Amino acid sequence: MQIRRYQDSDFEGVDRLWREAFPDDPPRNQAAFAIPAKLAFQPDFFFVACPDDTIAGTVMAGYDGHRGWLYAVAVGEQHRRSGIGTALVRAAESALHGLGCNKINLQVRAGNEEVTAFYTRIGYAVEDRISLGRQI
Ligand SMILES: CC(C)(COP(=O)(O)OP(=O)(O)OC[C@H]1O[C@@H](n2cnc3c(N)ncnc32)[C@H](O)[C@@H]1OP(=O)(O)O)[C@@H](O)C(=O)NCCC(=O)NCCS
Repeated sequence: MQIRRYQDSDFEGVDRLWREAFPDDPPRNQAAFAIPAKLAFQPDFFFVACPDDTIAGTVMAGYDGHRGWLYAVAVGEQHRRSGIGTALVRAAESALHGLGCNKINLQVRAGNEEVTAFYTRIGYAVEDRISLGRQI
């Protein structure tokens, strides 16, 4: 299993994966918008998993000097439950830790019990917070 930095030739594979894994996401999260934005800011923190010549998984991470965040953790349906999601999160954690980050946050949609089970299994805790957001 190779986990490596995203490269331009991965675009189609990532786009396909995200459409499958995040079918309800708003347009601002689609690959055409999110990938160029990520490549303009901390591009080293965008990883893909490639068991062969296909894109099996992704993770985007960011560090703002206070907290690290994970986004777009996704594994293709045919590749799930073989440790790829865990490997991607560990790669992102390692990169964030290398910048001095000691706390990582992420968001899961309310009611998504399977994804919550994944994160708790790999060491994340559900914290008593209310998530707020605003489009600007
Ligand atoms: C969440 C996701 C990334 C997990 O990827 P994965 O490669 O299947 O995860 P792993 O194989 O590393 O799983 C590690 C452990 O997490 C737990 N886990 C993973 N998926 C699970 C599920 N659907 N239900 C319950 N537990 C799960 C299991 O304990 C698993 O270990 P096991 O297979 O030995 O039982 C993947 O299901 C996915 O892409 N989901 C859709 C996209 C999404 O919602 N992403 C999260 C955005 S916040």
